[in-house]
Amino acid sequence: MANTILVGAQWGDEGKGKIIDVLTESADVVVRTQGGNNAGHTVFVGKKKFVLHLIPSGILRMRKTCVIGNGVVIDPVDLVAEIDHLAELGVKVKNLFISQSAHLVLPYHRELDEQREALKGKNKIGTTKRGIGPAYGDKAARTGLRMIDLISPERFASVLRDRINEHNEILKALGAKPLSYEQVHADYRKAGDRLKPYVTDTVVLLHKATQKGLEILFEGAQGTFLDIDHGTYPFVTSSNTTSGGACTGSGVPPNRIDRVVGVMKAYITRVGEGPLPTENPEIADMLHAMGREFGATTGRPRRCGWFDSVATRHATMVNGIDDLAVTNLDGLDSLETIKVCIGYRDGSAKYDYVTADIETLSKCKPVYAEFPGWKVSTSKAKSWKELPVKARGYLKAIAELSGAKLKIVSVGPAREQTIML
Ligand code: GDP
Ligand code: IMO
Ligand code: MG
Repeated sequence: MANTILVGAQWGDEGKGKIIDVLTESADVVVRTQGGNNAGHTVFVGKKKFVLHLIPSGILRMRKTCVIGNGVVIDPVDLVAEIDHLAELGVKVKNLFISQSAHLVLPYHRELDEQREALKGKNKIGTTKRGIGPAYGDKAARTGLRMIDLISPERFASVLRDRINEHNEILKALGAKPLSYEQVHADYRKAGDRLKPYVTDTVVLLHKATQKGLEILFEGAQGTFLDIDHGTYPFVTSSNTTSGGACTGSGVPPNRIDRVVGVMKAYITRVGEGPLPTENPEIADMLHAMGREFGATTGRPRRCGWFDSVATRHATMVNGIDDLAVTNLDGLDSLETIKVCIGYRDGSAKYDYVTADIETLSKCKPVYAEFPGWKVSTSKAKSWKELPVKARGYLKAIAELSGAKLKIVSVGPAREQTIML
């Protein structure tokens, strides 16, 4: 399979977990390289549902090496809870390696996330309130704590005390309750002891894996338009969700990457605030009535809309997407007519790519092409030929508009509901 980076080509929740799980069959190592437990990746194994937040989805397959890379921010207490929850579901977390350089998410990051969102009022980002922004903020400000600190008891104790004191001043100024050093120290040291056996130099581990010719799959979290540099700033997350983030977030250099797979839904969703040019409340109502499109991490209903090829074309550009996986085709099965956005217009100005000017983007009106619906269930289709002709036409069109090769079509959440081209 070669070394593959898998990214979300839209606003997150494209079905990356499901596609990663399918591709993991032929990979040796699965690596998370950015984000934190703001991610929620859903994988079905038989009828059993798993939602992974920090642990790579490869954990659900036997004997795959799973790595949480240096670019990820980790809440150690939540990670222990995720390991324990998987154990309850019958999954033993072996073969997991955690980067010693990964930064920690601490309770003051969560508290600050919450407070900053409240202060923003109607201009809020709609974060997952997992402390992601403040944790990456401390990393960039060079005031963060890392896994290596957590597992060094003396260092952790002294640095944590200073950080809690500093953050308590900020929390008090915001009118929030200060944190108890003793409590945080006790909880996080306990988690540190649990996680210590997994912590290692993952850069060297991955380097050795590439030297041995093992195949690495990089599991992207979030999506292209949540990227801190390339997304709809400021309505973004705080990491590089695009393909470059996989290299910096793992220490595997760009010349060891063989291909980039972009995952996209056959329509579009977004959870949280910010522009979504093709948003359509009727599509949202239809999908929500089917019990679909509720956030895997926060349970919030996702905003939904028509497929936006301006966005996916842009995603192909910034990620270097070679191959496309289109998921949730079955979500469109009942529609008479399906619209696809082929350009944006703002007055006389036309846009073929997503503009960085958020005010302009919010005013942009989509230009649509219409496709006839196929109006039969696709969820049992096992091959390209078994898909309705109109569905094939739709898929070919959205892949061509996105500028990459269609390689995978997903027609349901299960492993078997996957068509490889
Ligand atoms: P991720 O964050 O990109 O991994 O995506 P999520 O897991 O947050 O959300 C995707 C949702 O779509 C999950 O509930 C998946 O089980 C589901 N899903 C993925 N592919 C398909 C598909 O082709 N059809 C249907 N019906 N559901 C799918
Ligand atoms: P997966 O990996 C969808 C969104 C939040 C919010 C913005 C910033 O499951 O695709 P943050 O908590 O990161 O500071 O929130 O980013 N967001 C996601 N949306 N899927 C995700 O992950 C997301 N992770 C963050 O809703 O709009
Ligand atoms: Mg998700």
